Amino acid sequence: MSVFSKAIIASTTAIVLGFSGAVIAESHVDPMIAGAIKARQAHMQLYAHNLGVLGAMAQDKMAYDAAAATAAANNLAALITLDQMSYWPAGSAAGEVDGTRALPAIWTDFPGVMEKAGALGAAVTAMQAAAGTDLDSLKGAMGALGGACGGCHQAYRQSN
Ligand code: HEC
Repeated sequence: MSVFSKAIIASTTAIVLGFSGAVIAESHVDPMIAGAIKARQAHMQLYAHNLGVLGAMAQDKMAYDAAAATAAANNLAALITLDQMSYWPAGSAAGEVDGTRALPAIWTDFPGVMEKAGALGAAVTAMQAAAGTDLDSLKGAMGALGGACGGCHQAYRQSN
């Protein structure tokens, strides 16, 4: 092997090691904070899955099924009863740690966040009544439900 190619291998190795070293340093987040971020994102994914079932029916991408629609609405209703306070520890905003899109405004405008959560609660209750009735009722309740998710994201989630 020539001296030249040895030098290339050495510098490539340094770049690879340097890079992975940086990743390890950055992922050194307090485990409680990292866990809370994972938990709130998982909670959001459960919202999204159940909203997706209702949305697919509303958009005629999935055959209307009263039982499945009711189950999705009931799952959303169950999710919003969970106490989510531990999901949002101080120091877990975007800009303070990696891996989150939660805007710092969540921690400075708590009444505003509660208002958005309340709007979701009202929309879920309306969907629970509508989902099992018929497809038109489900479609009628869909706008407010999607809007409640989007309203909070617009105010409190980093867009990207
Ligand atoms: C009260 C505010 C609020 C409401 C209401 C809300 N979200 Fe979120 N959502 C957030 C915030 C803040 C984040 C960013 C969380 C993070 O990255 O740490 C988020 C993130 C998400 C994500 C990305 C999760 C991930 O894996 O990174 C999805 C999907 C999502 N929300 C879906 C929904 C759906 C569907 C609804 C309605 C049924 C909803 N959200 C209602 C505030 C809200």
